[in-house]
Amino acid sequence: MDRIRIVGGRRLEGAIAISGAKNAALPLMIASLLTKDTLILDNVPRLADVSLLQRILGNHGVDIMVGGKRPGGKVDDGQTLHISAADIVDTTAPYELVSKMRASFWVLAPLLARMGEARVSMPGGCAIGTRPVDLLIMAMQRLGAAIEIDSGYVVARAPRGLKGGEIVFPKVTVSGTHTAIMAASLADGTTVIENAAREPEVADVALCLNKMGARISGAGTRRIVVEGVAKLNGARHAVLPDRIETGTYAMAVAMAGGEVLLQNTRADLLQAALDVLTRAGVAVTPTNQGIRIARNGAGLDPVEVATAPFPEFPTDLQAQLMALMTRARGTSQIVETIFENRFMHVQELVRLGARIQLQGERATIEGVERLKGAPVMATDLRASVSLVIAALAAEGETLVNRVYHLDRGFERLEEKLGRCGAAIERLSG
Ligand code: UD1
Repeated sequence: MDRIRIVGGRRLEGAIAISGAKNAALPLMIASLLTKDTLILDNVPRLADVSLLQRILGNHGVDIMVGGKRPGGKVDDGQTLHISAADIVDTTAPYELVSKMRASFWVLAPLLARMGEARVSMPGGCAIGTRPVDLLIMAMQRLGAAIEIDSGYVVARAPRGLKGGEIVFPKVTVSGTHTAIMAASLADGTTVIENAAREPEVADVALCLNKMGARISGAGTRRIVVEGVAKLNGARHAVLPDRIETGTYAMAVAMAGGEVLLQNTRADLLQAALDVLTRAGVAVTPTNQGIRIARNGAGLDPVEVATAPFPEFPTDLQAQLMALMTRARGTSQIVETIFENRFMHVQELVRLGARIQLQGERATIEGVERLKGAPVMATDLRASVSLVIAALAAEGETLVNRVYHLDRGFERLEEKLGRCGAAIERLSG
């Protein structure tokens, strides 16, 4: 198994190109199931999760062609996928595949909407809490689907098609909102989705669906209205920038010190996180090429932050912020309100010398003068990158084990940080 070796203490200088958003690329690829025509996606990140979803969609009969680099193109440009779900050969998504990546459960809605039936394995437990699918099921029931649970599978049927309806989410859910939008796009009549997730990835998927002929309005607000259409067409769409990757590198620069331009990204995608960095004393300057992040000399001020749905501070940056605050001049508080049990990074940060107390959903982080490198274990995607951030400021060598978690969500991480001067390398095997 690969490991990443980091020697801390180097400042970061230069530029980092931000990739397309994983959390938009996955539902966009899944949306291809809604049409017989080809969907072309540009700026798709090269990630293990994207490759895995290619295999999962292949199982349903979807053909995916990965475009080569264009003449003069750079690796930073992202890849182009030509996705064709002309013939769906199987409406079952088996446990062996769904258990590897939770988001693959989302094939349920488009398969149901287009084929009138789908059988998808329940995703099962996950390292960051129970993560149920009850609200996704509720959304499809509201559109007239008959749902039963059979031997660990969710079996959804709507032999005469889905019907528009009203879906009121009792809690903001990204997966539930994606499901509702995709199902409603091919339903007969109008669907109103209340308390919808406002994440930029939801708006990006809706934008692409509209290019495919869907009639969705209000995506990005709390109330989304979908007028169902009989069929959708092909389209071409570029995946929006990854705000979590953006925030992660912003925190890496804040931790290591130095000045880096984050290219191909936009401040409005993560304003709450950038505001927190500004409060901590980091210089954040949006430019027309991206976002410039700098910390020169001065220490970091502690912050108090609670994670919450967009536009608030994202749970997917909680571990990274905690790593940063281990070196603040004072005591920080971070409250995790989205996922219970999303604190697996705490024990590993403590191994590097951090002082963190946990009380339910609240972490209290007392800043320390220095961290010291050690072997650590990545437990999930965002936790593992928080260890990389801590290692950038730790004295000596840190070895991050179980790097496959990083490869799920961060494209060429060691290359991007290495080019800016970090002492980071991948050790194979
Ligand atoms: C997505 C993101 C993930 C991010 C999360 C919250 C992708 C591929 N993943 O995950 O990176 O951390 O949004 O921003 O886009 N819930 C229920 N019942 C349900 C569905 C969800 O109770 O049926 C709960 C969850 O347990 C959680 C909350 O709702 O407490 C939010 O979950 P949700 O927004 O659905 O997260 P995901 O879409 O799975």
